[in-house]
Amino acid sequence: MKLTVVDHPLVQHKLAIIRDKNTGNKEFRELMEEVTMLMAYEAMRDLELDPVTIETPLTTMTAHMLSGKKLAVVAILRAGLIMVDGILKLVPAAKVGHIGLYRDPNTLQPVEYYCKLPSDIAERRVFLTDPMLATAGSAVHALSILKSKGAHHIKLMSIIAAPEGIKRVQEAHPDVEIVVAAVDSHLNDHGYIVPGLGDAGDRIYGTR
Ligand code: URA
Repeated sequence: MKLTVVDHPLVQHKLAIIRDKNTGNKEFRELMEEVTMLMAYEAMRDLELDPVTIETPLTTMTAHMLSGKKLAVVAILRAGLIMVDGILKLVPAAKVGHIGLYRDPNTLQPVEYYCKLPSDIAERRVFLTDPMLATAGSAVHALSILKSKGAHHIKLMSIIAAPEGIKRVQEAHPDVEIVVAAVDSHLNDHGYIVPGLGDAGDRIYGTR
């Protein structure tokens, strides 16, 4: 039930601009990517390393490089897409999967409409991206989908989370580490995170 809050000053500064309602789509997108990259740096702190022998211009030494364990980034459509490139900048060899969910208007339950994952997802460490962890309905369902395909080492990365969303993920998937940049106050009656940043998808893509 690990929760990591990446509250580095650079993250807090960029998040303040992201949250501001006067920040335009272009800057919003750029900063979301930058914040994701800084979060990924922390989320990957426990990647395994292997010793390698290299020669510097002066001597031979044992250095350490990533063990080559396979990684995957899985975005929950559509807002989760904005976090993919920031992670790929750090680990360009990672494969990318997509999960599309919509909320059934009658049952209010998430329904899968798209799922394309790397075929060897069960062997990969997975970083699931969903920038706003609000009610967590989508994240909980996406985590269940990933586990049903065999994934067992999964971290959920969200830029802003509500306490309600964190609790729900921790109850449903206690093995999944959650990495966020901020934990906000609460959800409002419409399921928006307060103070939050509004609708992430609309602010990324300029829709509304
Ligand atoms: N999704 C968003 O984009 N924003 C919220 O505040 C909650 C869910």
